[in-house]
Amino acid sequence: MPILEKVLAPHGGSESLCPLHQGLPKLPVPPLQQTLATYLRSMRHLVPEEQFHRSQAIVQRFGAPGGLGETLQQKLLERQEKTDNWVSEYWLNDMYLNNRLALPVNSSPAVIFARQTFQDTSDQLRSSVDCATGQLSGQPLCMKQYHGLFSSYRLPGHTQDTLVAQKSVVMPEPEHVIVACCNQFFVLDVVINFRRLSEGDLVTQLRKIVKMASNEDERLPPIGLLTSDGRSEWAEARTALMKDSTNRDSLDMIERCICLVCLDAPSGGDLSDAHRALQLLHGGGCSQNGANRWYDKSLQFVVGRDGTCGVVCEHSPFDGIVLVQCTEHLLKHMTKSSKKLVREDSVSELPAPRRLRWKCSPEIQGHLASSAEKLQRIVKNLDFTVYRFASYGKTFIKKQKCSPDAFIQVALQLAFYRQHGRLVPTYESASIRRFQEGRVDNIRSATPEALTFVRAMTDHKAAVPASEKAQLLRAAICAQTEYTVMAITGMAIDNHLLALRELARDLCTELPEMFTDETYLTSNRFVLSTSQVPTTMEMFCCYGPVVPNGYGACYNPQPESILFCISSFHSCKETSSLGFAEAVGASLADLRALCSLPQPTDCKPLLTEGKATGPSQGYQS
Ligand code: COA
Repeated sequence: MPILEKVLAPHGGSESLCPLHQGLPKLPVPPLQQTLATYLRSMRHLVPEEQFHRSQAIVQRFGAPGGLGETLQQKLLERQEKTDNWVSEYWLNDMYLNNRLALPVNSSPAVIFARQTFQDTSDQLRSSVDCATGQLSGQPLCMKQYHGLFSSYRLPGHTQDTLVAQKSVVMPEPEHVIVACCNQFFVLDVVINFRRLSEGDLVTQLRKIVKMASNEDERLPPIGLLTSDGRSEWAEARTALMKDSTNRDSLDMIERCICLVCLDAPSGGDLSDAHRALQLLHGGGCSQNGANRWYDKSLQFVVGRDGTCGVVCEHSPFDGIVLVQCTEHLLKHMTKSSKKLVREDSVSELPAPRRLRWKCSPEIQGHLASSAEKLQRIVKNLDFTVYRFASYGKTFIKKQKCSPDAFIQVALQLAFYRQHGRLVPTYESASIRRFQEGRVDNIRSATPEALTFVRAMTDHKAAVPASEKAQLLRAAICAQTEYTVMAITGMAIDNHLLALRELARDLCTELPEMFTDETYLTSNRFVLSTSQVPTTMEMFCCYGPVVPNGYGACYNPQPESILFCISSFHSCKETSSLGFAEAVGASLADLRALCSLPQPTDCKPLLTEGKATGPSQGYQS
């Protein structure tokens, strides 16, 4: 039985959609010494030796008996008692709400559907209706858990954003969708006089919206652009908007909607996977569909006239796996309903959807010009490629008795080393949804074992025999698998160190040296930001890098192929998305060649039965 399955077995397998919280254990607090030892072990080979020795001494002081570390750990254990999840709030703020960067590319991932073929606008509108109604149909999934998808709104703040959840018992559930068309926003009620509109009615209403939006005399400024700006800039612009009651009403309608449906104009590109992904990631800037968005809303369904379709997501209320499950549910609905003929009501009595109005002071015009310019910079700076490795996929890797995820992670490390001659702090998201309110922790994939392996693969002078390389590959995969198990069982170090740091902020007059140390800061700059987002239908997920000199690497392993979406910034002279993608392909080919050698040893799980072991090495050694 594979290692991960063994660990997951007590909870009935991976990723089942159980009701939120019910019967789930609380996230454990890892032992302090274990975290400190793992931290040092995962950084030793990534920073200069002298720096490491200084950091080691700092960690020793922090973790000494009766020292600050133990005090903070005690506070954390008390916090664990009092809260459903000791890290949720700290994590949400650190990962998202405190981040001041613009949402497109830097934060909001996108899901891209297979290219659609729309013969005419009617086809496009019918597809949009499927997007709107797909989410309202049936309840095969845990709707409680999915509540956040449709009821959240990320409100910009001057120093910190707020995730607003519409849980009010006073306010009714939202019953309208906002439709964006030609950078205008319209309120599409899906319930009128207590009756849910039929699909035919909705198409009729959308047709009215398209007509209203195309009237150039009525066009209002592209206010959605403001939401693509840095969060503090948008907060400032929003304060200016809020001075006017018309704007307040429009903002209120958008902030309380179920979701957005963006009817995009043709983008004029080649409609390749990469081109469609860019339309979802940043809309191609203001000359294309970049202003036909409202980035604060959790879900924006894009239905482009040219067949570019997908979802843009504000990431803070949910993680990628929930998003993909929701999207697959929607796509199944769309496939089923595309076979149905939607009858439009040609003499609809329904009131026309309302266009949202904006009063734009010169101050707001100024903000708009600045937001437009910044979005243009984001568009120009993104270096993005979609790469399908078609030689093999999960089936082959499983036959090697390896975890496909760990195998791919080692290939990514090899590719990075080949391109850049070093390894870097790497983030791989690991789901901790087996725990109450669990989101993710980090698998630090740049393990010492990975470094030993990639060095052996690239050091041509040393001429390491192939059989030894094969053994080192196994060791790297085992180490990766061990870290994965540690992470998904709540024993990884990133959430733990984050919580200790945040508790120290409350307790100490200044941040302890443990958290200002260069090694700690380096450990949190994820030059390689990776995530497995598998899909069972024809679609894929992508996102941008998280640091200026980094890569975003989102991969989707399929039985016979692996799809990679690689992103980086043109402004960084060291990185190249295409170069990295090609290096990943070459690495995967090399790994297969090593697998074809006779295996002297088996990849032994480095675990005791069903439980992650602590690190073998103490930090004081
Ligand atoms: N031999 C043979 N088969 C093996 C094996 C081995 N040694 N190890 C694993 N496998 C099998 C598994 O049983 C599984 O089989 P399945 O395809 O029938 O389900 C398959 O290989 C895949 O397993 P693996 O690649 O090891 O791991 P995983 O799919 O469980 O993924 C994580 C690992 C870390 C990605 C996953 O646990 C996780 O946390 N996912 C969430 C990531 C996330 O949050 N993404 C979005 C971020 S916004």
